[in-house]
Amino acid sequence: MTRTIDASQRARGLRRFAGATLALAAFACVSARPALAASAADAATVQHGAYLAAVGDCAACHTAPHGKPFAGGLPMNTPLGRIYSTNITPDPDTGIGGYTQADFARALREGVARDGHNLYPAMPYPSYAKVRDEDIAALYAYFMQGVQPVKQSNRDADIKWPMNMRWPLKIWNAVFLDKGAYQDKAGKDVAWNRGAYLVQGLGHCGSCHTPRGVGFNEKALDESGDAWLTGAVLDGWFASNLTGAHNTGLGRWSEADLAQFLKTGANQHASAFGAMTDVINKSTQAMNDADVNAIAVYLKSLPAKGDDGGPAYAYDAQATKVSLSRPANDAGARVYTAYCMHCHGADGRGFAPMFAPLAGNPNVLAKDASSLINVTLNGTGALVIQGMPAPYPMPAYADVLSDKQIADVLTFVRAGWNNQAGGVGAAEVAKMRTRTQAPR
Ligand code: HEC
Ligand code: HEC
Ligand code: HEC
Repeated sequence: MTRTIDASQRARGLRRFAGATLALAAFACVSARPALAASAADAATVQHGAYLAAVGDCAACHTAPHGKPFAGGLPMNTPLGRIYSTNITPDPDTGIGGYTQADFARALREGVARDGHNLYPAMPYPSYAKVRDEDIAALYAYFMQGVQPVKQSNRDADIKWPMNMRWPLKIWNAVFLDKGAYQDKAGKDVAWNRGAYLVQGLGHCGSCHTPRGVGFNEKALDESGDAWLTGAVLDGWFASNLTGAHNTGLGRWSEADLAQFLKTGANQHASAFGAMTDVINKSTQAMNDADVNAIAVYLKSLPAKGDDGGPAYAYDAQATKVSLSRPANDAGARVYTAYCMHCHGADGRGFAPMFAPLAGNPNVLAKDASSLINVTLNGTGALVIQGMPAPYPMPAYADVLSDKQIADVLTFVRAGWNNQAGGVGAAEVAKMRTRTQAPR
């Protein structure tokens, strides 16, 4: 369930050049068996490919809940309708067993399947376009030799003609796709360049954290664009600003704080929830220290961009503590003392990293309150770090609190401990409730 939501959050795109093409494609796959045995890669390359598959989080979309690894079938909601991820196991009939390394490289970097049909950009090929040849080769070796073939046919999308036509994607690619693998930037050190390569490329962080333009395209694909990683709403969550913005971004985080977050999902400032939980569970915690640190170096080099909310945040608990000691005449304080305070604290500092602080938390200060409403209504799937699920994840309050109570408590939280973010209305909560509780 969580994974379905997570993946659908990433999905946006167009849809399917249906029947005939696919039938032909299937036929072509059967008739042209690959020459994979011809050049078996060595074990170290396959293992490196497995590592890169985790960095690229291929499983997030290509492994369905309770499904076989990489056999596809995960539903993803796009603005045009529901699509399904595909089988990327080396099964020759239903998977990518028929792909040569060149076919594989083209699918990853240009979004074109073996039979020539264009993939919807729900597959993050605009980011994978930056992946270098040697990493493509290792990934290919892993998918051909390290992944168990699974016979499972791909599902057609639930998108109707004419929106299912794929040829407009060629135009989309011509306009929005930046071709060419990542080039090291002169004047930047090894760690910075490694971090930039991972964030922009395989890590595809921008696919969630960069706002989208009119064509659902990411408004920037690297730090040369002002919108790069300034935060974006995706299907009910707000993926935070990752620039140096003081209040709403990573301005107050050190490189070590960032590395801790990516490795464990929590630090003194915040905890992972929503779509980010899955990223931590499956991808960033598997990264080696050098790569995590490189990402931290790169992100911390990004100057403040995007909306930073009010004046620079400074902790002050005085007024809030007073209102919490006499909550009777403040509706938000009443809800907070009854339902939230034992975990998040009267001082708003929580018990980090176990219970996230709310005072000064960048997500609490962000202008867009989607994440806060969503997490209060629906709680969050557990972080699982090195096989251990978090013992006390944020509970769901959808059945406990009314829209008005949730609006009141979040308005209180957004004004508490010197937080200076706007109030939340009951109508916003109602909208999120309908959206996230309706059958998908
Ligand atoms: C955010 C979700 C997402 C992630 C992450 C993702 N994919 Fe995909 N991928 C898709 C979707 C959806 C499709 C099918 C798109 C379509 O049908 O147009 C796809 C299609 C493909 C295809 C084409 C297969 C075919 O014949 O249809 C390949 C190959 C592929 N992905 C490989 C990968 C690899 C390797 C990774 C990790 C490095 C990866 N994908 C990560 C969503 C994703
Ligand atoms: C599937 C969408 C998605 C992808 C991909 C993604 N993120 Fe996130 N990320 C989110 C969401 C949603 C949040 C807000 C919830 C939270 O704070 O955990 C978030 C939060 C974060 C935060 C916490 C910021 C704060 O102020 O609390 C950091 C740091 C972060 N992401 C880094 C990354 C990096 C680095 C990558 C790429 C390796 C990445 N994210 C990829 C969705 C995503
Ligand atoms: C059982 C302890 C517990 C209770 C009670 C609780 N929370 Fe949480 N909350 C958490 C944890 C733990 C997280 C961090 C995400 C996670 O790991 O699930 C969190 C995260 C959050 C976040 C996101 C903060 C971030 O990291 O960016 C908000 C907002 C929030 N809680 C609000 C509330 C509100 C409002 C209430 C009361 C209605 C409440 N919480 C009650 C444990 C709790």
